[in-house]
Amino acid sequence: MRALVYHGPGVRALQERPAPELQHPADAIVRLTHTTICGTDLHILKGDVPTCQPGTTLGHEGVGVVEAAGPSVSGFKAGDNVLISCITACGRCDYCRRNMYSHCLDGGWILGHRIDGTQAEYVRIPHADFSLHHVPDGADEEALTMLSDILPTGFECGVLNGRIEPGCSVAIVGAGPIGLAALMTAQFYAPAVLIVIDPDRHRLDVARRFGATHAFVPDAATATRVRELTDGRGVDTVIEAVGVPASFELCQDLVAPGGTIANVGVHGKKVDLHLERLWSHNITITTRLVDTVTTAQLMKAVTAGRLQPATLVTHRFPLDRIEQAYDTFGSAADSGALKVIIRV
Ligand SMILES: NC(=O)c1ccc[n+]([C@@H]2O[C@H](COP(=O)([O-])OP(=O)(O)OC[C@H]3O[C@@H](n4cnc5c(N)ncnc54)[C@H](O)[C@@H]3O)[C@@H](O)[C@H]2O)c1
Ligand SMILES: [Zn+2]
Ligand SMILES: [Zn+2]
Repeated sequence: MRALVYHGPGVRALQERPAPELQHPADAIVRLTHTTICGTDLHILKGDVPTCQPGTTLGHEGVGVVEAAGPSVSGFKAGDNVLISCITACGRCDYCRRNMYSHCLDGGWILGHRIDGTQAEYVRIPHADFSLHHVPDGADEEALTMLSDILPTGFECGVLNGRIEPGCSVAIVGAGPIGLAALMTAQFYAPAVLIVIDPDRHRLDVARRFGATHAFVPDAATATRVRELTDGRGVDTVIEAVGVPASFELCQDLVAPGGTIANVGVHGKKVDLHLERLWSHNITITTRLVDTVTTAQLMKAVTAGRLQPATLVTHRFPLDRIEQAYDTFGSAADSGALKVIIRV
């Protein structure tokens, strides 16, 4: 089969690989129909994720059809249309029993990281019963691909951890696919002020179309501007969806007393925490690796038309041209790419 393989920092190749086989009774083999590329795949290619060994097939998102299911898989059988979760969960360990699938003792984020992933014709899914979801008949598979990772990430790490409530004020720092997923799902709760901050003006335009009440580039006046929009207080919730020191520092300037900073970004460098100012502000800071515990709930919102993730798809490529898809996704400022769909 064809697969997009990581060969060390800066090196990737679409090549022939042996198709995966069932290794454990709880495995399923899925034939992919749609997959996509995540910012985290770019982090791996930059060498930021040393736990990903050269030789690993990339990708942790996708939709497909079950080709084979091991003898202990009870919820899925060959021929079922399925959504693949970016997080693998055994469903039994202490962490899984606490709904923290991201820290599953025999799973977590392993796909396209510690084991071969979804940017291929076939993938092996361990613990299939807790790591796959049935796709409803007639569903838009491109749209559902957004449920493997980015929608639960924006919702769980940003919106739920950020404790967004009706009438509150929210700022989202970073308008990449994750920030935009937080923007879409924040609107379940009808915040009164919904600000998006990003240096990319194209993404700010998208954010306005997706429901931001205000969208602007970060500069020296950002904190003042946010205070003007919030009666001088700052925002109740600020979602960090970038992962660099400058954006987390900005979040600390924007949060109102009593507010929450919900960090989503993957940070590679240490960041200063300004307790000399914030110690008295009654704030909460949260961090989270997406658990994908809300995927089924979000899938119902999508199939009911209450959430439209298809609007995040800007480009489509066949698997043969996945290298071009990477170039397009990696140069988002020029290409205007948000999510690129790979049709397998
Ligand atoms: N916690 C999790 O479970 C989880 C899951 C998936 C992704 N992530 C992380 O979430 C982050 C966002 O992912 P993405 O795919 O949307 O990334 P992305 O790179 O596509 O988007 C980041 C956006 O931030 C903007 N930006 C850069 N510097 C900025 C600044 N100083 N202020 C405001 N905006 C700035 C960029 O213009 C870009 O639009 C990444 O760090 C990613 O690794 C975390
Ligand atoms: Zn991802
Ligand atoms: Zn587990």
